[in-house]
Amino acid sequence: MNPCFYWIGRPVSFRPGETIAAALLRAGIADLGPEGGAVRGRVFCGIGACQACVVAIAGEGPVEACLTPARSGMRLAPQPGLGLHHD
Ligand code: FES
Repeated sequence: MNPCFYWIGRPVSFRPGETIAAALLRAGIADLGPEGGAVRGRVFCGIGACQACVVAIAGEGPVEACLTPARSGMRLAPQPGLGLHHD
């Protein structure tokens, strides 16, 4: 059984070495919540350049989901107010 983290309380399993973004997308979670107040957070560039995928790890703060390896037991939530505006 794969380890899991929690996205707004929902368990999301991941494979060892997988990023947060990869695990969320594989679980069918593409909407990462409000970003910049106008557009929705999401995985956009996938290489750490756009900041559209920034999420908050409880007790740690904001990270880029596309660059950050998933760890067992992390509690993640949307991180509003960061990132570039794009449509
Ligand atoms: S998707 Fe662009 S920084 Fe993560």
